[in-house]
Amino acid sequence: MTSGHVPEVLEIGNRVFDISEFPYSTWSLSAIARHLDQQPEACHVALFEGAPVGFVLASMPFLNNQTWGHIEWIGILPAFQGRALATKLGDASIRALYNAGATRIVADIATSNRQSKLLARSLGFTELTTVSLFSAPTLEWIKTPERTTETVASEA
Ligand SMILES: CC(C)(COP(=O)(O)OP(=O)(O)OC[C@H]1O[C@@H](n2cnc3c(N)ncnc32)[C@H](O)[C@@H]1OP(=O)(O)O)[C@@H](O)C(=O)NCCC(=O)NCCS
Repeated sequence: MTSGHVPEVLEIGNRVFDISEFPYSTWSLSAIARHLDQQPEACHVALFEGAPVGFVLASMPFLNNQTWGHIEWIGILPAFQGRALATKLGDASIRALYNAGATRIVADIATSNRQSKLLARSLGFTELTTVSLFSAPTLEWIKTPERTTETVASEA
């Protein structure tokens, strides 16, 4: 992948990710640029007649783990899905990250994303942990008279 592919990759992502839902709501130009700046050799596009029809974006480090690679974004246009393109892109990223010194490679996947979990398993990934995103109650709920009384009572 080169910086010339960025506009098309952004557009493919807008089409294949449900950007109204977390974690896909974090899809952005800067999300692409971060991986491409950090680890260009781990970022790849699948081309059809010279135009991108899919991509993978990956890099190191992952959070505070300097030698952990992170395959964060992968997407294939619907008309090109089911042809092992994501498998080829994923393999290319994994090889690039190990060649760059990765000691572990991770991918965080929404539990509702069946296709992505199938892809990960077919690439040989195994499940390490499951994290749930919880949403706090509204301020109005916290301020209800019963809650306020409960809080004051427990602080006493
Ligand atoms: C997930 C995604 C990238 C897979 O792309 P793809 O090119 O169709 O995947 P592949 O053809 O390489 O298939 C990989 C494996 O997953 C399985 N798979 C993928 N989608 C599947 C589906 N809809 N039904 C059944 N199996 C499926 C394939 O059978 C294959 O397994 P196998 O090797 O055991 O046969 C694609 O569906 C996509 O772009 N989804 C929307 C974006 C997204 O959610 N990305 C992941 C989060 S960043």
